[in-house]
Amino acid sequence: MCGLMGYAGPSPAAPILLEGLARLEYRGYDSAGLAVLEGDRLRVEKLAGRVSELAARVRGLAWPGRLGIAHTRWATHGEVTEQNAHPHLDCHERIAVITNGIVENWRELRAELEAGGHRFRSETDTEVIAHLAEALAPSLGVAGAVREAAARLRGAYAFLLVHATAPDRLFVARRSAPLVIGVADGAAIAASDVPALLPHTREIVYLGDGESAELWPGGIRLTDAAGRPVARDPVHVPWSAAEAEKGGYAHFMLKEIHEQPRAVADTLVGRLDLSAGRPRLEELPLSEPRISAARRVLLVACGTAWHASLYGAALLEELARVPAAAVLASELRYGHPVLGPDTAVVAVSQSGETADTLAAVRLAREAGSPVLAVCNVMGSQLTRDADATLYTRAGLEVGVASTKAYTTQLAALALIAVEWGVRRGTLPPAEAAAAVEGLAAAPGALAEALRLDGPAADLARQYRFAYNFLYLGRRHNWPTAAEGALKLKEISYIHAEAYPGGEMKHGPIAMIEPTFPTVAVAVEGSVREKMLSNVSEIRARKGPVILLATRGDRDAAAAADHVLELPRVPERFSPLSAVVPLQLFAYHVAVERACDPDRPRNLAKSVTVE
Ligand code: F6R
Repeated sequence: MCGLMGYAGPSPAAPILLEGLARLEYRGYDSAGLAVLEGDRLRVEKLAGRVSELAARVRGLAWPGRLGIAHTRWATHGEVTEQNAHPHLDCHERIAVITNGIVENWRELRAELEAGGHRFRSETDTEVIAHLAEALAPSLGVAGAVREAAARLRGAYAFLLVHATAPDRLFVARRSAPLVIGVADGAAIAASDVPALLPHTREIVYLGDGESAELWPGGIRLTDAAGRPVARDPVHVPWSAAEAEKGGYAHFMLKEIHEQPRAVADTLVGRLDLSAGRPRLEELPLSEPRISAARRVLLVACGTAWHASLYGAALLEELARVPAAAVLASELRYGHPVLGPDTAVVAVSQSGETADTLAAVRLAREAGSPVLAVCNVMGSQLTRDADATLYTRAGLEVGVASTKAYTTQLAALALIAVEWGVRRGTLPPAEAAAAVEGLAAAPGALAEALRLDGPAADLARQYRFAYNFLYLGRRHNWPTAAEGALKLKEISYIHAEAYPGGEMKHGPIAMIEPTFPTVAVAVEGSVREKMLSNVSEIRARKGPVILLATRGDRDAAAAADHVLELPRVPERFSPLSAVVPLQLFAYHVAVERACDPDRPRNLAKSVTVE
């Protein structure tokens, strides 16, 4: 949430900052702004609006300054106005600061600073940092002021700061919110996420929690909270700058939906031993004795990753016969969970930066639970906090609505469940071999499911004016229904509720009427008939039904108003392909309703605030 970009180098900073911001706009798009230093002159431009509007305004200005910071906002404190847009300045307009995250003690700090004569211009929490630095810099120097200011802030934040008295320096600090740094071609660049750095470098330095850094053209110095130097090697990120482009698709979301066969193939490549009939997970720390000895598994995550975790928990119980449950990270951390060395925690997260997931992991570690991360972003905080990581290898996901991150999480969790079943001896060799073959076929099935793009678009045109949707699924595909409903509501703003099919008669059926459509997943397998009974009950009440069924299932086709036919796959891996038409349907409904699927209102990609 909120995108930060800073540049110190040999070229004019403004165009580079604006390009970086455009690559970070998925993090927030309420407002945008930038500050550039020309010698000791600070120039600032900001507005309530998109990065493209800011770029249009700055284009005519031709600022020559080679050092600056830029911001794209997802509002937390204060309305979406120009005044509240970042950067924020000190009283004398010599310091500019931008943040991502929340400063929890901003009220106290503001009161204290106002009592000391500082004048505030915005309603934001960020502005206290500019005034704090202004108050501290005369005695501590700018770097010392940045460290001391950071030490006085509570919350989860990252900030970038420039000071007119240090015209070739960029100052950054972070606690619990992401910040990455790159050095290339005589420049140093800081950003809140990797895509902004990709045109410059793929060698990324992750700033640690509580650390700060000073950047200058071609160099960086990292320090810990006490000001001691920190040495850190860069991590090589295997993404290309082209991944941050739409590549001919109308939206990132559509591109990423279509990338799924390849993304899932990447998740599986080198990790399936077809001749031995079992996964090959050398890097997977199930050999880590504390993890494999666990008597219980808790999968913790938020949002889409929680839906993947529901699937992972079901599969772990089924194949490895280990008690497993998916828990929302935000519930776990504020509850009174039973954790400890016997309970392994599997933390699932695309970004590896989600505040609630990180907090749940901290809690688990404090209680002595071993933690395995299933994560997409190399070097992210989660992967540094976990005992071990299985990377999902989805590639860069830019669309705010998660798609390929989800299917790759399903594939990674399926790998873990099969492997764990083999190791615990609960999965007979023949079944393990069949599972490995089933997984190997998943990318092909995903590619076939993509052929439903046209039919999903037709249905979207037909149902775009519905006010509500019910999504139903059972067993492995209850998470599919939940994910389908989430996709629809987050990008088209149509209310959609998901239920396990068996729960329908316990309340939701009361809502059914001719204007209330249901999407039901009834693919071949153990719960198909039960799902078809649910469908008959809905149709008996004149509720329209869109059914996901296995190709050639005539009874299913006859049971519903519309059928989307999926390839035949083993039941337990059907969620990988079954979600595809639901993603496509949500996408097309959003487009039909003139909603921007890549920038859904009120949302941002990584939720780094609690
Ligand atoms: C929905 C979506 C969110 C994320 C959630 C967790 O499309 O993207 O629900 O899944 O915010 O994010 P990560 O996986 O980065 O921890």
